[in-house]
Amino acid sequence: MSPTRVQAIAPGRVNLIGDHTDYMGGLALPMAIHLATTITAELGGSTIELRSHEIPGVVEVALPVRAASEVEPAWGRYVAGVATELGATIGMRGEVRSTVPAGSGLSSSAALEVACALALGDTGTAVEIAERCQRAEQAATGVPCGVMDQLAITSGVAGHALVIDCATLRVTPVPVPDTAAVWVVHSGQQRQLVGSAYSERRAQCEQAQLLVGALPDASDRAIADLEDPVLRRRARHVRTECARVEAFADALIVADLVTCGELMRASHESLRADFEVSTPALDELVESLCSTPGVHGARLTGAGFGGCVVAIADPGVELPGWKVRPSAGASVEFSD
Ligand code: GLA
Repeated sequence: MSPTRVQAIAPGRVNLIGDHTDYMGGLALPMAIHLATTITAELGGSTIELRSHEIPGVVEVALPVRAASEVEPAWGRYVAGVATELGATIGMRGEVRSTVPAGSGLSSSAALEVACALALGDTGTAVEIAERCQRAEQAATGVPCGVMDQLAITSGVAGHALVIDCATLRVTPVPVPDTAAVWVVHSGQQRQLVGSAYSERRAQCEQAQLLVGALPDASDRAIADLEDPVLRRRARHVRTECARVEAFADALIVADLVTCGELMRASHESLRADFEVSTPALDELVESLCSTPGVHGARLTGAGFGGCVVAIADPGVELPGWKVRPSAGASVEFSD
């Protein structure tokens, strides 16, 4: 007999370092966090009907899906995008609950996508599910996002951050030492990728790549010789950010939090000056966190343009945000 009930749980993620590198085949170092999205549903029928505990309105998507990007309310587009990717024909009826704050750069949408894929019976590998959900996100929003968020969510390991090589999609867990408390602090500025300059940044990186080759491996000389100052800055960010991810992983393994903190500050500076995705609110927050005793470093996390800052601090320090634990990846349970 096929199961009639499902509960799928997918964590949010915070990126410790390595932003705007994933879509250029670079390195990123996120971790899945204990804030999560849960779908509890009865399986069956030919419609997906989901009620959100946090957002008003019910999502109703008839299967097979016709136009994922037109579903209302808008969060249903992620659901419809996933159902399209899976070619789902069997629906579900239930509820979505989430402790991942939306519009914060903690991947609430990717958590919803992965929970949805698992609930609808996706049995692929972590990489396959992540890639399907990435395509669902792109279809739902029109934003050409990378795969970091979805892959961090499907591959999370409790107590570990993940070095992701986005060229090979190889994930290497790195233990987060007990001496490091990871905090996420909201800048107060809502983040929106639709309509942001995300696509433009990606296009600029791709233009630079045509001139100097793969940005993570391009030589400093080749990048410095780029004639267009904007392309030069974008390429320099990607190249130097990948090097910072490697140095950060080495420092994290030996619990050298001072070096981790310095690399986070350098990352923020590069995202601000070279990649131009920071905002005055994010800069101010990073400044004030970095001058708080016991905080080793802070930087914007995710795409930028608002949202959250991530900080690494000594365990006793209290900051005005979420203290997040490195957590296991997404999981699903079916029952009769
Ligand atoms: C968003 C995208 C990711 C990644 C980050 C920036 O979160 O979804 O793929 O590009 O921005 O690192």
